[in-house]
Amino acid sequence: MKSKIQGIKNRTVDEITGGRRMRRMRRFDWSRRLIRESHLDVNDLVWTIFLCEGTDICEPIEMMPGVERFSVDVAIEKALHAVELGIPAIAPFSREPASIKMENGAYITSPNNLINRFIREFKKFAPNIGLITDAALDPYTTHGHDGILHNGIILNDESVEMVVQGALAQAKAGADIIAPSDMMDGRIGAIRDRLDANGFQDVAIMSYAVKFSSSFYRPYRNAIGTTGLLQGDKNTYYIDPANADEAMREAEQDILEGSDMLMVKPGLPCLDIIQRLKNIFSIPVFTYQVSGEYAMLKAASAKGWIDGERAMMETLLAFKRAGCDGILTYFAVEAAKKLREMA
Ligand code: PBG
Repeated sequence: MKSKIQGIKNRTVDEITGGRRMRRMRRFDWSRRLIRESHLDVNDLVWTIFLCEGTDICEPIEMMPGVERFSVDVAIEKALHAVELGIPAIAPFSREPASIKMENGAYITSPNNLINRFIREFKKFAPNIGLITDAALDPYTTHGHDGILHNGIILNDESVEMVVQGALAQAKAGADIIAPSDMMDGRIGAIRDRLDANGFQDVAIMSYAVKFSSSFYRPYRNAIGTTGLLQGDKNTYYIDPANADEAMREAEQDILEGSDMLMVKPGLPCLDIIQRLKNIFSIPVFTYQVSGEYAMLKAASAKGWIDGERAMMETLLAFKRAGCDGILTYFAVEAAKKLREMA
């Protein structure tokens, strides 16, 4: 059909486009597959899980439908299932009981905290699967902050020392990648030094280099039970979501201090940051599709307002398109199953 388009000039579409028709290659499934630029693979997925005390526990998390808190024994089972699906690494987070919480979060250094127990147990069953541990004080402090709070101020250097000791305890338990999420200044270099001094040269660091002070963390705080505890906000240590240049400086600093990989958090609101990091630095970049992103998709999907499965896959693919090497996500198992189905 070469009819003239009604308009001042009465040109045909071919005259308008110069014969360039973008839809040509979109016509068939095979041609769409042929020109597809980004691909999601199970090897891109890191499964984020929640741990709690007890045995045989698998409890729902109110703000994260479909995500459960597992006692260590159940977590091992679930994680092994994820391994069977081909997921290369697991990132455990913990809801520690109030009884272990202290002003300074010292329980992060305990070999018996939930994360360290999980690591030791899991490594017995799956020594070749990566374990990425969050090194931050928030599950262990009475006030819910990632640093040590003193007279209303988060103490940087004291917090670094505690996080460093926590990271060392995680490495001793068998963690493969330490992921400090506290955003204190100097923590990457300090962790690197302490790991090296203790024979853990081969334990890697994935810095939460670009961690924004985001509203999307609420369901996580609900999941680990710090919602009611948190005094004030985290604006004195997380990055202002308005700042991209600052994010680049923070990333550069972390690389200089010895970070092997970078992480951007949250995910979807930060695709520009991911792309910029990837363009500037030649280093693996990961993103954490956080709890609020998960909750949003699940809530809209439960209402029938979006197709949850398609939306999940679309967001994960968007991270790949932006340049991510991998994604930490609560969807990892669901997405891995979907990828199997599609294969
Ligand atoms: C803090 C930490 C946070 C998350 C993981 N570790 C954020 C916070 O509570 O400040 C959030 C992850 C998520 O929302 O899924 N160390």
